[in-house]
Amino acid sequence: MQRLIRILVLFLILGLGALWGAAAFNRQPGEPLGDAFMRQVAGLMGQEAAVPSVGGVQLPEGMVLGGPFRLTDQEGRSVTQAELGGALMVGYFGFTYCPDVCPTELGAIASALDLLPAAQAERVTPVLFSVDPERDTPEQLKAYVTNFHPRMVGLTGTPEQVAEVARRFRVFYAKVKRPEMTEYLVDHSSFIYLIGKDGRVRMLLRPQSTPEDIAKAVQAQLATL
Ligand code: NI
Repeated sequence: MQRLIRILVLFLILGLGALWGAAAFNRQPGEPLGDAFMRQVAGLMGQEAAVPSVGGVQLPEGMVLGGPFRLTDQEGRSVTQAELGGALMVGYFGFTYCPDVCPTELGAIASALDLLPAAQAERVTPVLFSVDPERDTPEQLKAYVTNFHPRMVGLTGTPEQVAEVARRFRVFYAKVKRPEMTEYLVDHSSFIYLIGKDGRVRMLLRPQSTPEDIAKAVQAQLATL
């Protein structure tokens, strides 16, 4: 397990994006991208089915993922990570037109906050970082995030700003256009990021983490802040 975590963290630094790309390419019909990714990681290690257990990967001291950012929130305000409120952000990179994965993950994040005592939940800001700046205007984000949680923040920006933040967080995203669809989709990595006031990632949670796992990880992080 230790070895698995070390190697997973190594991939985060060296080639998470590339691996997500490979997972997207190699995924079986109907297979969630997160599962395809975990299969990709396991395959590279010569372990057929072993995937990290549900739960978080704590980033080692000195490893930098994420960092300060300035984006536009759902009210159209230019904001930095420090201005978002709370001690901890639970961040997710997705887009409002996502048909299935994003709503599930954002729903899990909102449920996790509901599981926490109010005094703890108040210290946490849930954040959707858009990877679809073309369609995710502040107005579009505002209508969307409030479906999940009254305090959820939606962030967007210029394509360049979004690309830069995604690069810092090692988020893979790519437009996908299928012949039978009139609108494009955006394939994207699906980790949940626990982010401190400095914008740095403190912990990563794998796709399809349960609200209980997210809540536990959030509590553990809050205890250290
Ligand atoms: Ni999505």
